[in-house]
Amino acid sequence: MDNPGKFYITTPIYYVNARPHIGHTYTTVVCDAVARRQRMMGLDTWFLTGTDEHGQKIERSAAAAGCSPREFVDKIAGEFRALWDRMKITYDDFIRTTEPRHMRGVQALFMRLQERGYIYKGSYSGQYCVFDELYVDAVGPGAPCPECGRPTETVHEENYFFKLSAMEDRLLKYYAEHPDFIRPETRRNEVVAFVRSGLRDLSVSRTSFKWGIPVPNDPQHVIYVWLDALANYMTAIGFGSENPKDQEKLHRYWPADVHMIGKEIVRFHCVYWPAFLLAADLPLPKSIIAHGWLLFEESKMSKSRGNIVRSETVLDTLGGDALRYFLLREIVFGQDGSFSFDALVARFNSDLANGLGNLASRTLSMIARYFDGEVPYPSPSERTPADEAIAKLGEQTIADFHAQFGQFQFSRALETAWALVAAVNKYIVENEPWAVAERDDQDSRARLATILYTSAEALRIVTALTHPVIPDATARIWTQLGLGEIGQVDLRSLAWGQLQLGTKLGPIEAVFPRADKSTIERMQQMEQQRAADAKQEALPPSAQPAGTDAQPGQPVTQAAASPSPSAPAPVADSKITIDDFLKVELRVGEIKVAEKVKGADKLLRMEVDIGTEVRQIVAGIAKAYEPEKLVGRKVVIVANLQPRKLRGLESNGMIVAASLGDDGQPVLAGFLEDVPVGAKLK
Ligand code: MSP
Repeated sequence: MDNPGKFYITTPIYYVNARPHIGHTYTTVVCDAVARRQRMMGLDTWFLTGTDEHGQKIERSAAAAGCSPREFVDKIAGEFRALWDRMKITYDDFIRTTEPRHMRGVQALFMRLQERGYIYKGSYSGQYCVFDELYVDAVGPGAPCPECGRPTETVHEENYFFKLSAMEDRLLKYYAEHPDFIRPETRRNEVVAFVRSGLRDLSVSRTSFKWGIPVPNDPQHVIYVWLDALANYMTAIGFGSENPKDQEKLHRYWPADVHMIGKEIVRFHCVYWPAFLLAADLPLPKSIIAHGWLLFEESKMSKSRGNIVRSETVLDTLGGDALRYFLLREIVFGQDGSFSFDALVARFNSDLANGLGNLASRTLSMIARYFDGEVPYPSPSERTPADEAIAKLGEQTIADFHAQFGQFQFSRALETAWALVAAVNKYIVENEPWAVAERDDQDSRARLATILYTSAEALRIVTALTHPVIPDATARIWTQLGLGEIGQVDLRSLAWGQLQLGTKLGPIEAVFPRADKSTIERMQQMEQQRAADAKQEALPPSAQPAGTDAQPGQPVTQAAASPSPSAPAPVADSKITIDDFLKVELRVGEIKVAEKVKGADKLLRMEVDIGTEVRQIVAGIAKAYEPEKLVGRKVVIVANLQPRKLRGLESNGMIVAASLGDDGQPVLAGFLEDVPVGAKLK
């Protein structure tokens, strides 16, 4: 029996023959945003991701890399997991197909199909595509695969077969009775047409390689990778385990609510997987949703095409929220969409820095300035049509955003939210709170309160709605609004007017500093460096620079360590690459305000103009510098440090100084020539 209060969502499990790139990140981010929102909608949510580690393709990749399959899969699976952790992907479980819990579950499923008479032994002669792990209709040695165009291999194998041909009618009936099973509609139609054209039995075992799960009682054979891989959605939540806790979990979450996949694996998920489940008498997932491809330089981003972009490049420059927002806003879900650094930076600046970031910083700083950091009381009787219009739009935004996001129309939902952002930014400009604040009468004060309350309330609503998409920035805006933990918000009851009067704001800081052209260059350079590093790593051991294969603990001699003329120089441990250096953003800033920090005789609190914004920076230079003498001085700051708190004050960056003598007396770095504020150092 399905439990209506739960929500179980899965990503495909990613092949470990390649490192993660933005294409994989796309699916994972979509699922993460959906999972986060479902949790905020009060559902008992389970979000699964993982890695697909068996098969000939992986066995060959490991051999090419000169290591065992086990070492190979451990390394790449670790990279996937580390990336998701760095991106704060809220997966509840990470399944690896080489884990015992999975292997046991796959064997249980195989036996269940055998017991029910759906598996028989036969033999196969024909063409096989290693890339797609598929027997294909192609004739003759080396004939191109009809799916991917790569040359196929001729195989003659004794195999176990699954009676897929017997499932045609049941599948068609199921699709007809469950119109939402495959989405979008275009994919559903393709699947129905494919099944209608007739299904042939499917070979579900291999003897040509060993890196897989043995067929129960016939270990010469390993189980076909797709049967192995698809089963992860159930084995991860306990299928095949006798343990009552696992069984309870299986009961609680299966059937899955959403299998999120890329469009190239529709047939496996929408034909084979339901056929296995129908034959095994197990409930089918409720929906399979296929998205389009992320294109880069006009073709699908993939390792084999060599046109990948690493997520780390964006994380190191603009941050995780920028990437998440771009992927969900720019790509119309279900369709193919292009990735480019230019488009990413343009979106970042227009929507995040100028849109939401601007709304947050101007609203919050005016409340801080004019109302001592407390959400003001709007005038209940004197709402102008402009105030009413924003309140109405706020309500409408909540309703529309819910409906659109619930239908996986992420781009439209974000457009809806940003229409409110734009409307409020316009409302602020037209209502000129800064001018109203100049007038000292009671009516003006009430008007100012209404304008700022209205703006703050709209900001609160956009922040809550978009938290699943841009979790970091929204959590920070939420704290600045004085509202605590954003993850605790119940989105079901979100409504206009809930912002409590008198709420005390938290410390204010900019959430999205504008990016400039140099950000694009930095990202391009980082990608080039990463591609060069990857190429170097992919060389077989004999082509690696001499000295890199010294035994641990043995010194590498100077002669052995010197690079061959054709090989790039190995990087010594103490040196960093240009890539590392480019991560540090150094800028010229001008100190606008400097004052001592109460109770901390070494610290100064400063406000430093860095061209795009004024930053609060707290630094341990009070013993060396009088605060008044620092005002107007140009300094060098590290602009992209994570904020940290010193004596309760948030410090947003670091001032660069020489450190002299044993007690580290600071001497500020500076310039002999005049340099403009905001200039970059490189
Ligand atoms: N291991 C199989 C899936 C087994 S699921 C039971 C597989 N792995 S994969 O590593 O090739 O990952 C495929 C998935 O990664 C796609 O379905 C898609 O979700 C995502 N993407 C990889 N490249 C992508 C793009 N360029 N664009 C969008 N998504 C992409 O297939």
